[in-house]
Formats: sequence, C-alpha cells, structure tokens
Amino acid sequence: MSDDSHIVLPDPKPSTEPGLSRRAFLRGVGATTAAAAAVTTAIPELNAEAVSTVKGIRQAVIQTEINGKTYRLAIKSHWTLLDVLRRELNLTGTKKTCDRASCGACTVLLDGKPVYACSLLALDADKRKITTIEGLSDGETLHPIQEAFIREDALQCGFCTPGMIMSSKTLLDQNPRPNVAEVKEALAGNICRCAAYHKIVKAVTLVKA
Ligand code: FES
Ligand code: FES
Repeated sequence: MSDDSHIVLPDPKPSTEPGLSRRAFLRGVGATTAAAAAVTTAIPELNAEAVSTVKGIRQAVIQTEINGKTYRLAIKSHWTLLDVLRRELNLTGTKKTCDRASCGACTVLLDGKPVYACSLLALDADKRKITTIEGLSDGETLHPIQEAFIREDALQCGFCTPGMIMSSKTLLDQNPRPNVAEVKEALAGNICRCAAYHKIVKAVTLVKA
C-alpha cells in the first residue's frame, strides 16, 4: 500500500481539444461561466513548500472504539477516517462517493453525532466512539431503521442508504416520533442521486422502535 495513495496532484495545464477554434472555445466558456463560477475552486500550483508538506506526513497511533470494539491503529497523519474504515478495517458499508463533504454517503456517528468520515482526519477519532452502518444490526437481526428502509422500499441503487440510516439514527435517538419536516431537516446533509427522498422520509417516520 502506498503512503500517498489518495494524494491526487492536479494537472495545472488546461486541456485543449484538437480542432476547437478559439472563437468556439470562448463561446462555450461564455455559456458556462456563470455556472462554473459558483462551483469552481482555484487549485494552486504545487511548489516546493507544498511538496515538502506532503513529504512531512507523520505516523501516529490512535485508540478508538468502533462499533463497540476497541482498536489501536497505526495511521498516517493525512488519512481520513473514511479511508481507515474502508481500506484498513474493511468496513466498506460506509460509502465514498464525492469524497469532499458534499453528499453524506460517508456519514458515521462520532460520539453519537453524524459526521462526514471523508472530511475527518483519522487523528481526530482518537479516544472517540465511532458507529458505522455495520454496528447497527445485531448479528443477523437488522436495526429497526434498516427494517423500515426495506419495508418501505426506500432505496434504489442503495449508495446513499448507509449515510441516510446513520443520520436517521441520530434523529430517532433524540426524537423517536419525528414528523416529515423534522426528518427532512435531519437528512438535509444527505443526497440521494436516485431521488428516492419520498420513500426515505416515509420510512424514517414509520420506524418501529
Ligand atoms: S463521500 Fe463524504 S460527503 Fe460525500
Ligand atoms: S438510492 Fe441511489 S443514491 Fe439514494
């Protein structure tokens, strides 16, 4: 396993399409500039200082409780909790999709509160309790939220489902009978690309404790 397996270096050169005239290129840019301006983040070119920061990655040992088991884990300082769960512990129920705190598919509970595991350094999980989707069921017996998602057919591809269920768990722990508005608010940080929202919200309101 490479130490820097998930460091992606940006290519600073803009891509050019053969045969695309400058006029046609600018016309295309003009049509998309407004939308792009809202979402584009400037990527600085790498310099010697940045490279030396990458080389300065440190080793660390953390102790954390994951799904009721205590782990001592040797990690690198730049590893995210998501990569440690999936890659080091094979807890692949937590999904990696956007990997940039936008979709909620990687939601786990940190001391009972939902967090995006893709955006939390594993170092920050030291001496904390983590619950992942694997920690909800009791052996072959599914958690009532999982049962409700199945009963209400509240998924299509299922990629958002673990994150939806973890966010729902926090809500239901605090409010066992949420109304539709409360469920929508609790799941606001979770995106479903299949747009199964109606059934997801219904399932959460119908969880049998
Ligand atoms: S994978 Fe973490 S928020 Fe999308
Ligand atoms: S069921 Fe496909 S992303 Fe939600």
